[in-house]
Amino acid sequence: MKQIDWDQAITLLSPHSYALLSTLGTNGRANLMGVGWWTIVSWNPPQVAVSIGQAQYSRECLDAIPEFGLCFPSERQARGAWICGSVSGRDGDKFAMAGFRPASAGVIRPPLVDGATVGFECRVVNRVESGDHVLFIGEVVGIRGTPESPMHLYSIHYNKLVAIDKDLRLDDAPGQE
Ligand SMILES: Cc1cc2nc3c(=O)[nH]c(=O)nc-3n(C[C@H](O)[C@H](O)[C@H](O)COP(=O)(O)O)c2cc1C
Repeated sequence: MKQIDWDQAITLLSPHSYALLSTLGTNGRANLMGVGWWTIVSWNPPQVAVSIGQAQYSRECLDAIPEFGLCFPSERQARGAWICGSVSGRDGDKFAMAGFRPASAGVIRPPLVDGATVGFECRVVNRVESGDHVLFIGEVVGIRGTPESPMHLYSIHYNKLVAIDKDLRLDDAPGQE
């Protein structure tokens, strides 16, 4: 093996599963951001963690209202999903920019993304500072899904999204600039 740098390692480790974090701002507006750094951290009770940059607007939203949706956009939502990972919710309504319809969650206040393959509803139960990010651990208190949209998105480094389903069918996700 030879020495490689962080950037090369992240690229070599691709694809990374890509999700949309929905939060609610103190202004009452829901926000969405793209996250690659998420993982399941407990089976019973079911918990997931998301690692959010200290400077992100979504970090502020989570600290103010500690509930989030973790939605897995389907292949058809690639264009909007990419916008959520490249524009800040400080600058406007990302649901509108991305062309997504909010879907009411059953338990939490932030909405889910209508048509997402899976949407976890989570309540923050732990917060861990980790370098320049904050790890928010959320208990999954509701789960919704769209079984007829099984192809969801993975990122290749931070350059583009591809769609893969559980049977390993692979597609270049359409619509990214
Ligand atoms: C493929 C991809 C994955 C990303 N993963 C994360 C992540 O896990 N954590 C994070 O803080 N930012 C991540 N980002 C960056 C944010 O999505 C981006 O900075 C976004 O504009 C922040 O939105 P906000 O300011 O509305 O919170 C990612 C971006 C892309 C394109």
